[in-house]
Amino acid sequence: MEFSYKNPTQIEFGQGKIASISNLIPKENKILVVYGGGSIKKNGVFDQVKDALKEHTWCEFGGIEANPTKESLDKAVLFGRENDIDYILAVGGGSVADGCKYIANSFYYEGDGWDLLTGDFTPTKAPELGVVLTLAATGSESNTGAVITKAETKEKRFFHSPFSYPQFAILDPDVLKSLDDRQLANGVIDAFVHTCEQYITSSHGLKAQDYYSEGLLRGLYELSTTYDNRDDKWYANLFWMANQALNGLIGSGVPQDWGTHFIGHELSGLYGMDHARTLAVIQPHLLRELIDEKKDKLLQMGKNVFGITTSNPEDVIVKIENMYKSLNVDLKLSSYTEDTQIKDKVTNLLEKHGFVKFGDKESINLGIVEKILDRAL
Ligand code: NZQ
Ligand code: ZN
Repeated sequence: MEFSYKNPTQIEFGQGKIASISNLIPKENKILVVYGGGSIKKNGVFDQVKDALKEHTWCEFGGIEANPTKESLDKAVLFGRENDIDYILAVGGGSVADGCKYIANSFYYEGDGWDLLTGDFTPTKAPELGVVLTLAATGSESNTGAVITKAETKEKRFFHSPFSYPQFAILDPDVLKSLDDRQLANGVIDAFVHTCEQYITSSHGLKAQDYYSEGLLRGLYELSTTYDNRDDKWYANLFWMANQALNGLIGSGVPQDWGTHFIGHELSGLYGMDHARTLAVIQPHLLRELIDEKKDKLLQMGKNVFGITTSNPEDVIVKIENMYKSLNVDLKLSSYTEDTQIKDKVTNLLEKHGFVKFGDKESINLGIVEKILDRAL
């Protein structure tokens, strides 16, 4: 086990915490407040932000899409430059948080911000970033990742940067109460799959990472079984577990397999599918294709997460599928698109993005991807 771990984001968790941004952002900063399609103007979040920023100088940029596009984000960069801002406050879900990471990292760059995604540009400075998170799913509020779409080419790619760590993230579970069933189910599934990608690999015997992951998986599974009776604790549990699933801790020092995410990103780019739905559609079949290699971990998961004793890893995959179905998620890829060229398009994009061999043992090649997609259709 060898790793380096640091997570500098200050978390302010609890009801009414949005007010604390008045002290978290220095008064001398000029703030760009960025949000999505308008949910924050209907559920009271924008009013709370406005109240908290009474003594600050700020301007606003709205309209960041779910699966945020570089085309919209480039406009936000220009707007921010025109207004001479030096601090960015993201108010929204993972898309707005990711979008603000792109805005921050490309803010002082003369070239095309997409160069961040291709690896052609590495930033050396960026305005600081804060997040008021309104959707529990991605963990973006305290990690360095951001996933951005180029609408022109239907490509969805990710980048990491140390400048993407927010200075702070506000997690008020009351804010989640205006989410609809679809987005809440997405949140449970995204956090569950994040944990799986850092857990369903090979047996390594590192107990903190394994048992912590199993705790999160059990908790998220329980949220799926109590989904119809959501109370304050349900929302608080989801918010904190989604954060913990992808703040870097459980993955430190252990093998990881982000194969489901890599394939899922291409599906969102091509067909605009919700991120979590791409994962629910792909993951069970990826596990089936790699069942021998993942057998030990699947059986361990069956015992320690679902409480079943079995020698057949397929039983565990069925448990995972049933969990997604119980959240009313359609698991057939053909329900999301009628495109008959899916396999070609996905494998071409993966190849273009350099993913010809991936997974913790590099056993997922483009032929395996085609088999996974065949099963998923
Ligand atoms: O745009 P608005 O009007 O705000 O509506 C949003 C959006 O339509 C709505 N919403 C958010 N908070 C709400 C709300 N509606 C009512 N009440 C609230 N409190 O929900 C819709 C979806 O929002 P979005 O931000 O897209 O969802 P999510 O947080 O699931 O983010 C998904 C994006 O994050 C990326 C995904 O690929 C996708 O682009 N990911 C980012 C990761 C990261 N940075 O670490 C990791 C993930 O694996 C993921 O790839
Ligand atoms: Zn995800």
